[in-house]
Amino acid sequence: MRTDNNITIFRKDYTPPSFWVDTVEMGFDLDPKATHVTTRTTLRRNTDSKEKELVLFGEGLKLVQIRMNGQKLARTAYQIDKHSLRIFNPPDNITLDIETQINPIKNTSLNGLYVSNGNFFTQCEAEGFRKITYFQDRPDVMAKYTVMLRADKKKYPVLLSNGNLIEEGKLSGGRHYAKWEDPFKKPSYLFALVAGKLVCQEEKIKLKSGRKALLQVWVEKGNLDKTQHAMDSLQNSIFWDEQRFGLELDLDRFMIVAVSDFNMGAMENKGLNIFNTKYVLANAKVATDADYAGIESVVGHEYFHNWTGNRVTCRDWFQLSLKEGLTVFRDQEFSADMIGTNSGRAVNRIADVRMLRQAQFPEDAGPMSHPVRPESYVEINNFYSVTVYEKGAEVVRMYYTLLGHEGFRKGMDLYFKRHDEQAVTCDDFRAAMADANGRDLTQFERWYSQAGTPRLKVSTTYDAAKKTYEISFTQSCPATAGQSKKLPFHIPVAVGLLNAAGQDMSLKCQEQANPTDSTTLVLEVTKAKQVFHFTNVKERPTPSILRNFSAPVEVEINYSDEDLAHLLAHDSDAFNRWEAGQRLAMRRLLKLTAAVQAGKPLELDTMFIDALSKTLNDTTLDAAFREQVLTLPSATNIAEQLKVIDPHAIQTARHFMRSEITRHLKDDLLTAYESNLTNGKYSPDAESTGKRALKNLALSYLQEWPQDSTFDLAHIQYKNAKNMTDRIGALSSMINAAILSQKDSASKSARKAAQLALDGALKDFYNAFKNEALVIDKWFTLQGSAASTDVKKMRQLLKHPAFTLTNPNRARSLIFAFCNANPAQFHAADGSGYALWADLVIQLNAINPQVAARLARSLDRWKKYTPALQEHMKTALEKVASAKNISKDVLEIINKALAA
Ligand code: TRP
Ligand code: ZN
Repeated sequence: MRTDNNITIFRKDYTPPSFWVDTVEMGFDLDPKATHVTTRTTLRRNTDSKEKELVLFGEGLKLVQIRMNGQKLARTAYQIDKHSLRIFNPPDNITLDIETQINPIKNTSLNGLYVSNGNFFTQCEAEGFRKITYFQDRPDVMAKYTVMLRADKKKYPVLLSNGNLIEEGKLSGGRHYAKWEDPFKKPSYLFALVAGKLVCQEEKIKLKSGRKALLQVWVEKGNLDKTQHAMDSLQNSIFWDEQRFGLELDLDRFMIVAVSDFNMGAMENKGLNIFNTKYVLANAKVATDADYAGIESVVGHEYFHNWTGNRVTCRDWFQLSLKEGLTVFRDQEFSADMIGTNSGRAVNRIADVRMLRQAQFPEDAGPMSHPVRPESYVEINNFYSVTVYEKGAEVVRMYYTLLGHEGFRKGMDLYFKRHDEQAVTCDDFRAAMADANGRDLTQFERWYSQAGTPRLKVSTTYDAAKKTYEISFTQSCPATAGQSKKLPFHIPVAVGLLNAAGQDMSLKCQEQANPTDSTTLVLEVTKAKQVFHFTNVKERPTPSILRNFSAPVEVEINYSDEDLAHLLAHDSDAFNRWEAGQRLAMRRLLKLTAAVQAGKPLELDTMFIDALSKTLNDTTLDAAFREQVLTLPSATNIAEQLKVIDPHAIQTARHFMRSEITRHLKDDLLTAYESNLTNGKYSPDAESTGKRALKNLALSYLQEWPQDSTFDLAHIQYKNAKNMTDRIGALSSMINAAILSQKDSASKSARKAAQLALDGALKDFYNAFKNEALVIDKWFTLQGSAASTDVKKMRQLLKHPAFTLTNPNRARSLIFAFCNANPAQFHAADGSGYALWADLVIQLNAINPQVAARLARSLDRWKKYTPALQEHMKTALEKVASAKNISKDVLEIINKALAA
C-alpha cells in the first residue's frame, strides 16, 4: 500500500541532488490571503548525480507561472503532483522563474509562511520552504539568497529577512519595500522573513576582531519591558563562543524575533532567529527562575547554531543530531560556564540527566525508539526528538570526556577547517574528532547506529592482602523497535574510589594510561565484558561509578544502603552524591509500590529519612543542590523501572513517601523554608534561584502535613509574592495541599476554608495576569497537572474562554500537563482520560499536525500498563487511527504504537 501518508524515507537511499543552486532571488508581495512569491534561481547540473530530471518540492502551492531560461515552460515539459514539480530533460544551466500564490492566514500548521496576531512569520525547518515556493527543499542544496519584501506600510511597518538590509523605500499605494541580502550560502530551511508591527531593543557590540555588530530583539509593542534578559543572554552567548571555541559572529547584524504562535522553542534562521515568546520575554513579574534559565539556554542554543548548523549544516535530515546534539552540548556548556561554580555546574548536570531519564530513556524503550542517527522516517518532524537532541548531546559529551578539553577543541577546529560552508554527516564530525587527536573512533560509531539505553553491570572485588581492587563491567543493550542484536559500545566510565573517611583515594589502574595521581579515571569500556585492576588500594573502597554521568547508560551495581549513604554524604563528585540519594529513594519507592499492589502496610525506614535530613540540614551545601537531593524520582522514573506500570500504585507509594518525609522532617523543612527566603530586588542568579527552589520545595512538602498552619504559609507567600517564582510556587503548593482532600469530618471547616482561599487565589491570579499570555499558560498548566483535576474538570477547563487549540503554547499548557504530568487522573480506571486524549489528538490534527503528533506520543508506552488500562488505551489509539484525514505526522506515531 503506497498512499500519501505512509511513504517511508530511508537513510540508505540518499542520493545527491541532480542540480546545484547558486543564487536565489525572491520577491514577496505580502498579503494575508494572497501572497505572491516570485523566485528566480540559477541552477547548474551536478555531474555526480545520475538523476536526469529536476525535482522541485512544493506543498499546497498555487503555481501562477514558470519560466525556464526566459521562456515560458511548455506544459509538456513538466509535471505537477501533490508534492512536487518535475521538469523533464532540463539543460545543464538553468535560470528558473517561478511565481506562486499562497494563503498565509489559512495556515494554522505554523509551518511555511503564516500570520500570527496580524504579523507575518516563516518557519522552514525542516520542510516548510516548499510551502512557499517550488524548490529543491533539502539541506544539501546551499545557495545565496536575496529577498525583496513588499507590503502595506501602515500594517507592516517592519520588514525583515536574513542577512543585511541593503535597500528600503516607498512604493505607490501606501506600500513600501525592503531588500535583504544574506552573504552566506545556506540551505532553504534557514530562510526566514518577518513582517508587521514590531518594536525592538537594540545594542551595538564589539566583536573579538574589532568588528561591530548590531543586535536586535524584536517584540510586540507592549513587551519592550521584557527583552533585557534575552539581550543579555545573546551578548553572553556571542562572547562565550568567541572565548570557548574561537567562533565569532560572522554577520554585521543579528536579530531575534518573538512570536506567540510557534510550534517549538526557537529557530536558528541565519541572522534572523525566530523565537517562541516563552523563550524571549521575561521580567520578575511574569517569569520564573526556570523561565530565565530557559531563555538563556535557548538564546544560546540558537546563536550557537550559527556555526554548528548554519555555517556547517546537515547533508540530509538523518544527520539532524550533527547539528542538534552538538548544539545542545554547546548550550549546556554555556549555561554551566555562566554559573561558573563546580556545584552550580553539577546542579545543571543533574537537571539535564533528570530530563534524559524522564523523556529519552522511555522514548528509547518504546515504539518510537530510534538511533541518534535514524535509519528511516515517515515524517521528519517526528524525529526532532529527545533522542536526537538530548542523547545526541550526551554522545558529543562522550567525545569531550574521552578526548579532554583540549582534544575536543582540536576536533572542533578541524571540523570547521574541513567543512565550513558544507553540508556534511555525523561520520564527518566523528572523523574530525578522531583525526585531530590521532584516535581510532570506529567503534564509537555504534552510538549513532544502535538505539536503546545500554546497561552496564558492575561488580567489584577487593583483595586486602594484595591491596588490589577489581572492577568488572558487563555491558548489554536491550532489543529496541526493529533492532534486536546489539554490539558493544565504546563507553567512557569515569570512576573514583572513596575511602572509609569519605575521601578520594589516589588511583593506579593497570589497564588505563591516564595520569595516576588523578582521583577520577576515565575507564574505556569497549568489550561486552571487561575487568580493570587497581593496585596499591590500601583499604576496601566504596566505588563511585559513572561520575558526572559520563555516558548515557543505566548502571546496575549492588550497593548496600550504607554504601549509598556514604556516597551521598561524601562523594567529591556532586552528581554521584545526588545519584546515591536517588538510588536510596528508588529502591524504597519500588518496594512501596509492590506493597501497595499486594495490599500490605506501607513503611519507610528511618535510615533513609536520616540521610535526607543530613543533606537538608547541611548548610555548607548549596540550596540548589539540596533541592535536587530532596526531589524524589518522578512517577515516570519509577514506571520505567517496572515490568508492568500501575500508575495508581506508583502514585500512592510516592505520596506515602512524601508524607512520611514530611512527618519526620517537619521542623527541618520549616527551617529550610524560613532560612531560604530571598528578600530584596529580584535576581535570577544561581544562588537566589537555588534558595527559592529549596524554599518552594520545602513549602510543597509541608503541604503533605494537612494543617491550616502549613496551608497558611503557602497562602501568605502567595499574597506577598514579589516575583513569579514565589507566586506560582505558592499557588502550586496550595492547589496540591493535602488539606483539600482531607476526608474526616473533624477537618471539614479547615478543608472548606482552604478551598475558599485556593479558589480566591486562582481567580486573583487570572485577573492579575489575563493580559499576559505566558502567565495564563502557567495558570492552565497548574490546573491541568493538579491531582484534583479529573477528566470532568478538564472538559470544563477546555471550555474556558481563554483556552484555544490554535495557539500551541496554550494547547500544550493545559492538555500536555494533564496527559503527561497528571498520571493519577489521566490513567483513570474507566479510560475516560484516554478518550479525552483521542478527541484532542483528532481535533488538533486538523489544526496543527506537529502539535497533534507530540500529543499522540502520550500513549507510547501503552503496552507496559496493566491489562485493563491497555485495553482502554488500545481503543483510544484505534479511534485516532481510523479517524478521517489523519496527518502522516500523527499516523506515524499511532501506527508505530499499535504495532508494538
Ligand atoms: N532547529 C530548531 C532548534 O534547534 C528547532 C526546530 C526544528 C523548529 N523544526 C522546527 C522550531 C519547527 C520551530 C518549528 O532548536
Ligand atoms: Zn537546535
